[in-house]
Amino acid sequence: MDRLKSSPRLMIVSDLDHTMVDHHDTDNSSLFRFNALWESSYRHDSLLVFSTGRSPTLYKQLRKQKPMITPDITIMSVGTEITYGKSMVPDDGWVQLLNHKWDKNIVIEETTKFPELTPQVETEQRAHKVSFYVKKDNAQQVTEALSKILEQRGLDVKIIYSGGVDLDILPKGAGKGQALAYLLKKFETEGKLPGNTLVCGDSGNDAELFSISGVYGVMVSNAQEELLQWHAENAKDNPKILHASERCASGIIQAIGHFNLGPSLSPRDVSDIGQEQNVENEPPGHAIVNFCLLSEKWRRAEIENSDVFVASLKATSHPSGVFIHPSGTDHNIKEYLNIMTKVYGDKQGKQFRIWVDNVLATQISSDTWLVQFDKWELHGEERHGCVVTTILRKDSDSFTVMHVHATWLEQSGQNEWIL
Ligand code: GLC
Ligand code: MG
Repeated sequence: MDRLKSSPRLMIVSDLDHTMVDHHDTDNSSLFRFNALWESSYRHDSLLVFSTGRSPTLYKQLRKQKPMITPDITIMSVGTEITYGKSMVPDDGWVQLLNHKWDKNIVIEETTKFPELTPQVETEQRAHKVSFYVKKDNAQQVTEALSKILEQRGLDVKIIYSGGVDLDILPKGAGKGQALAYLLKKFETEGKLPGNTLVCGDSGNDAELFSISGVYGVMVSNAQEELLQWHAENAKDNPKILHASERCASGIIQAIGHFNLGPSLSPRDVSDIGQEQNVENEPPGHAIVNFCLLSEKWRRAEIENSDVFVASLKATSHPSGVFIHPSGTDHNIKEYLNIMTKVYGDKQGKQFRIWVDNVLATQISSDTWLVQFDKWELHGEERHGCVVTTILRKDSDSFTVMHVHATWLEQSGQNEWIL
């Protein structure tokens, strides 16, 4: 990725459903913990890769439903589609490789002869992925029979069973593992091999990720039987693979700590944010995440209501600093912060969260950073977003806010926006 000038410190390659995203956690607390950790301590020098079975259509749907941050690389449709960046630029080189001994029409022709196979919805049928539902009891027998037939028809395919229900047929060279191997090779050619790689998964289509040499792996506590069985049969003596005791994204954070891959304390787990020691070497993203967390906790009345708090917030801004509100009005930052006294507890007992995405800091002088990020607020079911550009100056052990400019990310529900 061009964003990083040198090798990423850590590359996380994570599955989404039931790994990064916990569909049983309506508060999304583990995802919020991970997001805060990533944006505060990793975004500036590491790579986040999402590797999902979902097609681009269903992936985008999930992004609307869950508070997910933006990955550097998105691998979709079980390792058959790779895209880069926020604008999701496809890797055409990867697609070319997948045409080897693959013919989607032959796959369709042969699979129609199996009444045990129920085709998945049209969005999930892709150029290099044909997908079905099949009952657990039939999965193995169908897989074996199909493999033989497709081989006889001159194809070289891979059949993957996931979640005790999904059956995907892909070209042999595709899959989550192969896609990761392809990326690693590409990074190696560019001289940007990640310092460490951590793969994270819960089901059958993730198994391949764990067999890529040199990577660390975490199977989240809620991993499916088929993945645990694969592990027992193929990798049980590999000390680099952990079966976490925590669910989903919390299991990923647990693995970062377990393997010593870097900071593993999410800012969301720190009770006295802003009071921490040794922030000297913290990246600007740390200050941004903490500021947003403080304002969330203030409005949820999870921190004590005191003038000292507002005074300490004001102390972090420059006396002539300007805040340009998304509506276009401009204010002196210190004066504007008086609004905080009015909104204390206005979200108490309500579903209200703030998270930031894509924190990108550029050092513009020896002590000054230009930091841009997306800031999201969740009010019950509704979410509002802003692009924020800010100038931060480092004074001894803390950052001073020199300038803040926020503009709407989306047109919806703007009236409630405060900070
Ligand atoms: C996702 C995809 C589906 C696939 C499954 C397992 O749910 O939408 O097509 O079969 O992952 O890989
Ligand atoms: Mg999964």
